[in-house]
Amino acid sequence: MGHQYFIRSSSSGCDPTLLSLTAMEPRTPQTEQLLLHPEQGRDCRAWGLSALVLLLLLPSAAGLLPPLLFRAQRLETTVPLTLLAGAQEKGAVCLDGTPPGYHLQRGSGDGSNNWLIHLQGGGWCSTVQDCSSRRNSSLGLGSSNFMKPILFAGILGSDQQLNPDFYNWNKVYVRYCDGGSFSGDAEGQAQDGSTLYFRGLRIYEAVIDELMEKGLGNATQALLTGCSAGGLATMLHCDDFSAKFPREVSIKCLADAGFFLDVKDISGERTFWSVFDGVVQLQNLRKVLPKDCLAKKKPKECFFPAELIKSIRSPMFILNSAYDSFQVRYVLIPDSLAPDKSWLSCKENIRNCNSTQMEFLNGFRNTMVDALKVVEHKEKWGLFIDSCFTHCQTVNDTSWNSPFSPRLGNKTIAEAVGDWHCGSSRRVKEIDCEYPCNPTCSRQLPP
Ligand SMILES: *[C@@H]1O[C@H](CO)[C@@H](O)[C@H](O)[C@H]1NC(C)=O
Ligand SMILES: *[C@@H]1O[C@H](CO)[C@@H](O)[C@H](O)[C@H]1NC(C)=O
Ligand SMILES: *[C@@H]1O[C@H](CO)[C@@H](O)[C@H](O)[C@H]1NC(C)=O
Ligand SMILES: *[C@@H]1O[C@H](CO)[C@@H](O)[C@H](O)[C@H]1NC(C)=O
Ligand SMILES: *[C@@H]1O[C@H](CO)[C@@H](O)[C@H](O)[C@H]1NC(C)=O
Repeated sequence: MGHQYFIRSSSSGCDPTLLSLTAMEPRTPQTEQLLLHPEQGRDCRAWGLSALVLLLLLPSAAGLLPPLLFRAQRLETTVPLTLLAGAQEKGAVCLDGTPPGYHLQRGSGDGSNNWLIHLQGGGWCSTVQDCSSRRNSSLGLGSSNFMKPILFAGILGSDQQLNPDFYNWNKVYVRYCDGGSFSGDAEGQAQDGSTLYFRGLRIYEAVIDELMEKGLGNATQALLTGCSAGGLATMLHCDDFSAKFPREVSIKCLADAGFFLDVKDISGERTFWSVFDGVVQLQNLRKVLPKDCLAKKKPKECFFPAELIKSIRSPMFILNSAYDSFQVRYVLIPDSLAPDKSWLSCKENIRNCNSTQMEFLNGFRNTMVDALKVVEHKEKWGLFIDSCFTHCQTVNDTSWNSPFSPRLGNKTIAEAVGDWHCGSSRRVKEIDCEYPCNPTCSRQLPP
């Protein structure tokens, strides 16, 4: 049969040297993963033929997989904060003028030259008042005075079984303290006369520059990722990030829960427009918005991913729930519309929605599916659009890769992203059916 079967050490990522058996590292049975390698491709993960074939060929090794993948043990690590050097001179500061920060965990082994950069999310501030009070956010969303060490989990985790493709990469979690998706460049004045710094773009540039010096500049592979407002930032910056590296370096982007839709809410209005309009104007985001869109549409409309993805040229993976809990709560059923008890319980938990409400939410899903049609024709892109009521699925062990992880095509998110990342010849473009069709959407997922 026209296929060869390899066992790879699961740390190997997409290293082409693994295409020959002799080039493989010594390995222990505990860390093996199966690789099915079609002759023409550069795939580095099991693909194509069914698990059944693998079971027949390599029964003992295949038998090891489930207990290892699903074991309960976690290897989450707390990673300290590094403040950006020379932040004030570069004007790359948080809303309150303090230096921004990031958490860096060094890679090891064959991951030492690979870099994963995660841009944190956390909504936006769209008015002077919002941005002023955000400076006091105890989560540090406007000031590094409140930033604490954080736990690395999910795609940032160090457990090889839970995170086989990225566990030993250099991993960076960039703190979000500008309120403008790492994209603004302006100043404002708070009510009390103090200066408000809208410097997300400078923060992004200065942090990447500093990381370049710390080894990112020598990367052989890099993945720019982020969640929510950080997922949106990932789309805004994917191409300019890619442009910082020589052609032979593999650069990809993964936008998690950043696919914000321009939709009408339960009142029939686009209440959310005021947020995006406020951010774009107050924080001066024009520089990062696609020029061809700005020529035709209002700036706020060009801040929506449905517009952004049309012009992105780098390989991108879009991970989102078609019933994204954040968008249901803040875009579709915003508190400002004083929703009745029934809507409140529906946005609290999708299980509580009545049939009229589900129809409305399915309309939202259909808009997302339509907006993603352009991805069909984008060859190196990946999709994982599940129907679970959740938000931010890469940075949580449970969603990323566990018995409770949402599955599409029987793949967990970690498996789907891994297959896409390794340039599998088979498509990794999965769109789930309508809620509640997917039995893998569990109650264990982050709400
Ligand atoms: C925010 O913090 C500043 C200085 O730490 C303080 O003066 C101000 O009253 C605080 N504002 C709010 C709304 O808590
Ligand atoms: C990049 O690699 C070169 C050659 O190995 C080395 O001299 C240099 O210090 C490295 N730079 C960084 C930022 O790691
Ligand atoms: C569902 O709840 C909404 C909001 O309260 C209400 O307008 C609608 O009539 C309800 N639909 C059904 C089928 O109960
Ligand atoms: C789905 O994946 C699980 C775990 O990887 C495996 O045990 C199961 O047999 C697969 N099911 C199908 C239908 O392929
Ligand atoms: C992942 O989500 C679950 C469910 O909400 C939560 O209990 C757990 O603390 C989360 N883990 C991390 C690392 O955030």
